Amino acid sequence: MRFSTAALGAMTVLSGLAAAIDVIEIQDRHFVNSKTGKPFFLKGVDYQPGGSAAVEKGGDPLSDVETCTRDIFLFQKLGINTIRVYSVDPTADHDACMTLLAAAGIYLVLDVNSPLEHQHLNNQEPWTTYTPMYLEHIFGVIEVFSGYDNMLAFLAGNEVIFDSGSAEASPNYVKAVVRDMKAYITNHVHRIIPVGYSNADDLKFRTSLAHYLECGDTGYIDFFGVNSYQWCGDNTFEGSGYDKLVEDYADYSLPVFFTEYGCNEVRPRVWQEVGSLYSEDMTGVFSGGLVYEFSEEPNKYGIVEIDGDTANIMGEYDTLVTAFDKVPKDVSVPSNVNIVDRPVDCAAESSFKNINGNLTLPFTLGQEYIDDGVDKKTFVKGKFLSLDDLTLEVKLDINDSDGKAITDKTIEATSSVTQSEIPEGGHGTNTGGGVGTGGVTSTSSGSSSSETGLSNSASSVSRGVVGWSVAAVMVGFAAFL
Ligand SMILES: *[C@@H]1O[C@H](CO)[C@@H](O)[C@H](O)[C@H]1NC(C)=O
Ligand SMILES: *[C@@H]1O[C@H](CO)[C@@H](O)[C@H](O)[C@H]1NC(C)=O
Repeated sequence: MRFSTAALGAMTVLSGLAAAIDVIEIQDRHFVNSKTGKPFFLKGVDYQPGGSAAVEKGGDPLSDVETCTRDIFLFQKLGINTIRVYSVDPTADHDACMTLLAAAGIYLVLDVNSPLEHQHLNNQEPWTTYTPMYLEHIFGVIEVFSGYDNMLAFLAGNEVIFDSGSAEASPNYVKAVVRDMKAYITNHVHRIIPVGYSNADDLKFRTSLAHYLECGDTGYIDFFGVNSYQWCGDNTFEGSGYDKLVEDYADYSLPVFFTEYGCNEVRPRVWQEVGSLYSEDMTGVFSGGLVYEFSEEPNKYGIVEIDGDTANIMGEYDTLVTAFDKVPKDVSVPSNVNIVDRPVDCAAESSFKNINGNLTLPFTLGQEYIDDGVDKKTFVKGKFLSLDDLTLEVKLDINDSDGKAITDKTIEATSSVTQSEIPEGGHGTNTGGGVGTGGVTSTSSGSSSSETGLSNSASSVSRGVVGWSVAAVMVGFAAFL
C-alpha cells in the first residue's frame, strides 16, 4: 500500500523512525488499514519459486533468509504491498523473512494447504482426506503465522472446485474447512484474520460458488479470491470481459480481489489490466490483485528467472514496474459503492447452479485442536525479529533485464518492525466458526451468536510475553535502472 508507506517515509526522514506496519482488516466490502482507516488495495504477486516440485523437496519460500532477502528487494523495486504464498512448512522458522517483508511494507496472503500428503483435500473424495491430521496441519499454519502483523489473510483452498466431480463432492467440505479455521482463530488467535477462498476461472460456477460460500451462519468466507486469465495482450475493459466480471460481483457482500491474474497467451505481457484494476471501473467491487507469478516456471508466467541462486530480471518485470508506477498512490473506494448485507440465510440448496449446494457440513474432526490448540513446540507462534539482528543487504546475485549484475541491492526499511506482546488465547468472537449447518437453519448455540466464544480458552485472554520495539534502521535504497 503505497499511500501509507509514502507518507510515513517522508516523516521518517525527520524523526528517524518509520511507523510500524499496521494490521489490515475488512470493513464492508473493502480492506482497510486498521490504524488510518484508509482503504487497502492489494498490489502484489504470487510467490512460490519452484512450484509444487520444490514443496515436495521440503521447500518453503519464507524460510530461507538469503533467497527471501533477494526476492523482497525485488518485490520492493516492483512497488508491491502484498505477496501470496501457496504452501509453507509450518514447522520451519519464518521469523526472519516475515520481519523483512514487514520492514519493506509487504503483507502476506497465505494458503494453508500444501501438495503433500495429509495437507490438502482430495476434491473428488474429500471425506477421505478431511482428517484430524489434515486439520492439525492447517491449524499449525494459522498458529505460526498469526503472530505477524503483516499476516493479511488466509486462503482455505485454491481451485478445489474446478470440474463436475469436485463441484458435486467438495463445496460443503470447503465450507467445513473455513468453519474449522475460523473456530481455531476464535479460540487461539488474538485478532480476527480474514479467511477466504481462491476460485478457478470458470464461468460455470464462479458466481454460484461465491454465493454458496458467502451465506449462512457457519463456515462463510470473509472475502472471495478470483483467479482470472481473461485479459490477454492488447485489450480493453469491455473487450476482455472484465466488465462482466465486475458485474457478476456487483451485488456481492464481501471483498473480492484477483488471487491470480496475468494471461500469458500473448507474451511479452503489457499489463494493461493493471490500469483498469485500480481505476473506478473496478475499485468499487475489486480490491486489487496479485499477478501470477514472480518466478518463471515451466508454465511460463514468471517475471523473474531464478537460475541457481541468481535472479535474472525479465522484461515483463520492468513493464510491470511501469504499470504499477501509474497506479495512484491513494486509490480510493468510489463514493457510489454498493454496500450489501451478507446473507445470513442461504438460498435453497438447489439454487446454486452447477454445484452441490449441500448446506449440511460434515462434523469437525478437529475439535481437540479447536479446544486445546495445536502443540506449541511443533508449531511455534511467529514473531518479528529485531532489524538490528538481520541484514537488509542482498548477498545473492541479481541481473537486470540486460543481463548486467546489480551491485547496489539493499532492502529499504520503510516500516519499523515492532513486536508487541501477543495476548494468549483467542479474540473470542464467533465469526462463523460455530458448529452448525452452512445455512438455512441452525440449532447450535455456537452459530447463533456473533459475540460468543467457542470454548473457555477463548475468554482466558491473559498477558503473556513482554513486547519489545525497535526502530527501523534507515538504509539507502539504490535505484538500479
Ligand atoms: C451433505 O453433506 C453431509 C455431510 O457431509 C452428508 O452426510 C450428506 O449425505 C450430504 N448430502 C448430499 C445431498 O450430498
Ligand atoms: C548474470 O550476471 C553474471 C555476472 O554477475 C553473469 O556471469 C551471468 O552470465 C548473468 N546471467 C545472465 C543469465 O545473464
